[in-house]
Amino acid sequence: MIRTQGYTQFMDFSQAQQAIPQAPTLAALEDLRVSLLGLNGSITAQLKELGKLDPEARKAKGAELNQQKTALAEAIAARKSVLEAAELERRLSTERVDMTLPASSVLPLGKLHPLSVAMEEIAAALKALGFVHAYGPETETDDYNFTKLNLPAHHPARQDQDTFYLTPWAELKETYVLRTQTSNVQIRTLEAVAPPFRVMGIGRVFRRDYDLTHTPQFHQVEGMMVEEGTTFANMAAILSEFLRRYFGQQFKTRLRPHYFPFTEPGAEVDMECVFCHGKGCKVCKGTGWLEVLGCGMVHRNVLAVGGLNPEQTPGFAFGAGVERLAMLKYGVPDLRLFYESHGQFLRQFGQAPVAAA
Ligand code: DAH
Repeated sequence: MIRTQGYTQFMDFSQAQQAIPQAPTLAALEDLRVSLLGLNGSITAQLKELGKLDPEARKAKGAELNQQKTALAEAIAARKSVLEAAELERRLSTERVDMTLPASSVLPLGKLHPLSVAMEEIAAALKALGFVHAYGPETETDDYNFTKLNLPAHHPARQDQDTFYLTPWAELKETYVLRTQTSNVQIRTLEAVAPPFRVMGIGRVFRRDYDLTHTPQFHQVEGMMVEEGTTFANMAAILSEFLRRYFGQQFKTRLRPHYFPFTEPGAEVDMECVFCHGKGCKVCKGTGWLEVLGCGMVHRNVLAVGGLNPEQTPGFAFGAGVERLAMLKYGVPDLRLFYESHGQFLRQFGQAPVAAA
């Protein structure tokens, strides 16, 4: 290898001509250039000496030195472009991104939102009991959200749910709403499927409510089973088993009579308080019980939508708030946490995705 600095002053023109094409690196080439053509370089030094020569000799020597200078500068430029091309080639091959390398496992990967986790767990518990997914749209007609669920036009219970009405186009004959409940799934199913069936509908619902315990958009799970011989006792057993599977342990349950326009009879399911196990605490307001589900035998006016009657093919239905079920299972104290996107809160839930091996 040619180390230039320090001994190039001994390098004559022909040695320099040999050394330049062999300069191994851009840095070595630059060293050579400085030592030959730089301010204190050997060629430069000889040019400075010209003045001491007599005019004849000066002319001849000057011409020779200038030729050498030009030749060396050209040789350096040529070597430089060779070395630069090699350097570029080296970088292109060593810095190429290898798309087949595994992804870094230290990248923060996403997790499912706790409400998504809750909806998956609810669906898994119901699936194990024979329920399959059914569909109802989020933008629904007033007819499917209310009327066909036995809430005719001026039914007072319509006012229990603060409804978002969608401004209709003049040519639309129907009134559209954002569904206030997943119960529209009942009507959609009754119109499309013949019994026996067990269906669940899980998804978004909307109400004009916003305070500590209400958000204008939330989630519900709806379930309906219609089959010859279905009884209120079947409903009680299945709902209790659903809660046992969802919460992962058995809590006492009780049924309390309750009015829903689409049920007859209707009830609410209370569950032994998951926080104090029935002793009475702040969450259950000292009662030891938490209200978790609305349910009942499907009203004959609703069954009639599918051309059915309760004497031949009775059924039951139920509905519950996903947020409430999730808060109770995970001990989340404030509904708004689900919607405020705090990383520290969200990271506690769900499976960490498996990093690529
Ligand atoms: N749709 C009701 C609500 O939003 C909940 C409900 C009650 C659903 C009773 C049902 C039922 O299917 O049978 O409050």
